[in-house]
Amino acid sequence: MTQAQAVLQILYFFLPAYLANMSPVLVRPWLRSLAVPIDGGKTLWGKRLLGDHKTWRGLLAGIFVGMITYELQRLINEAGFAKGLMLIDYAAQPLLPGLLMGLGAGVGDAVKSFFKRRIDIEPGASWPVFDQLDFFIGAYLFVAPITAPPLLPTLASMPIIFLGNVASEVVGYWLGFKETWI
Ligand code: CTP
Ligand code: MG
Repeated sequence: MTQAQAVLQILYFFLPAYLANMSPVLVRPWLRSLAVPIDGGKTLWGKRLLGDHKTWRGLLAGIFVGMITYELQRLINEAGFAKGLMLIDYAAQPLLPGLLMGLGAGVGDAVKSFFKRRIDIEPGASWPVFDQLDFFIGAYLFVAPITAPPLLPTLASMPIIFLGNVASEVVGYWLGFKETWI
């Protein structure tokens, strides 16, 4: 297998996490009753634990989208397509990896917000690199007990994921979904 193929496998494997990470901003017009802050308004040293932008709705949307995306990948696998991209035995591993990637993406994002609040970065203000890779590190750590993706291609995929996220953010900003372009 070439290095490029190994990186492509990582990108394909983490597609559920990538889409989960994009989902909170897309579900904002719906499910208002779930749009409550995860931190319940609590503070630490006078500053919000996570802030208003981290809601149960966003976290649940990510878990849902992570699972749906993973299940679609399982169907693609079952149909015999894209075999060279498979890093995991999709037939033997239903649901849980998708759930873990969706949850891990959301937890990674929330942990990053925790640190943003500690260093006085307002909710929605950008913290480059951390904002783009938080979900990926979270998803990796959560899914690793089931399938630990090889480290070198994982590291090599990070600049691509960073740039992919900047591109989605620019498009999201342009379409009016996001407050900042990065
Ligand atoms: N979002 C949400 N719940 C989450 C994560 C995100 O409702 N658990 C929504 C919020 O409306 C948020 C938007 O998705 O404004 C974009 O998410 P993100 O960029 O991760 O958050 P920021 O607005 O940058 O907030 P923070 O500074 O806390 O990272
Ligand atoms: Mg942000």
